[in-house]
Amino acid sequence: MTVETAVVLSGVGAYVPEKRLTNDDLSQIVDTNDEWIRSRTGIRERRIAADGQTTLDMAEQAALQAIERSGVEKEDIGLIVVATMTPDMPFPATACLLQDRLGIGQIMAFDLEAACSGFTYAVQVAEGLLRTGRIDHALVIGADKVSGILDWEDRATCVLFGDGAGAAVLSRVDGRDIGILDCLSRSDGSDPSLLCQPAGGSAMPARQQTIDARGHFLKMRGRDLFKVVVKVVNRLCRDVMERNNIRPEDIRWIIPHQANLRMIDSMAKYLEIPPEKFFVNLERYGNTSAASVPIALEEVISKGEIETGDLILLVAFGAGLTWSATLIRWH
Ligand code: ACO
Repeated sequence: MTVETAVVLSGVGAYVPEKRLTNDDLSQIVDTNDEWIRSRTGIRERRIAADGQTTLDMAEQAALQAIERSGVEKEDIGLIVVATMTPDMPFPATACLLQDRLGIGQIMAFDLEAACSGFTYAVQVAEGLLRTGRIDHALVIGADKVSGILDWEDRATCVLFGDGAGAAVLSRVDGRDIGILDCLSRSDGSDPSLLCQPAGGSAMPARQQTIDARGHFLKMRGRDLFKVVVKVVNRLCRDVMERNNIRPEDIRWIIPHQANLRMIDSMAKYLEIPPEKFFVNLERYGNTSAASVPIALEEVISKGEIETGDLILLVAFGAGLTWSATLIRWH
């Protein structure tokens, strides 16, 4: 008899920093107000990492929770992928630093940069490696300290983002039609200026001029991004549903990247899926980049809102552009 293999999320964890930054707090920093931010984005407050607290520190907390909940022994983990656009250093990879912090053996560890789609991209990569049979468990993390690359003089961007980390242990188990049913990731690099950090790479290495030009901060063409994202995410979700013979009513939760409530409402409208099926917690955390989907997933699980057999669709989008979905039948 053939034993079929499934890949399940055996444990999910999340971490957000203590410090809350409300819209009123922001109005003391830039020319903005609570009404503008809430009506344009849905965000009320976000968490900001403490001085000296890094992406690695947040990733570690989320990872420890995910590992504990998975019941998997650390020594049985064969891969660490940290999805981040704000690593502790350009190199070495934050995943390697995490391997040491967690006291895990000398396993494969690397960072993956797909901005806000990083977690679902990393899940797809880890799932593929698990299915080779060479490893049994993988630790996948989405973590970003976006506050470190925000221009706190640019009201159009600094109000949107927050810091945090989310993690999942992915495990290979015997079974069929459970766990990760499908992954679909796409990209389009034709217009990097939609969302980018222009300086600090080989095209514009760090120099006094790049600092003076504020080139090390996140730049975004928000309105253009909004239009493109809603369109491509709609196509992506429809393709995932079609190729898995799934109707919108079969899905218990869509867990979207928590960028903007108006964006999520537009997705619901174009997909013709009731907005109640979209899990939203961005009012408390803002856009935490690669951390946003796993933080939201952890919250749905902790609230007891997922049952065995439920279909869950994770959907993310971010700089690149990248966009990506994971279809899961909860185990
Ligand atoms: N407070 C008050 N006024 C503001 C603020 C602010 N924080 N920010 C911008 N404004 C002003 C602008 O200066 C402009 O004023 P003007 O008309 O006098 O020039 C006016 O508000 C309108 O500006 P727009 O940028 O056109 O505002 P828009 O309605 O498009 O909303 C927003 C901006 C919220 C950024 C929206 O475009 C959006 O959500 N886009 C999607 C961006 C996003 O979510 N990106 C992340 C996805 S990918 C990833 O997560 C990495």
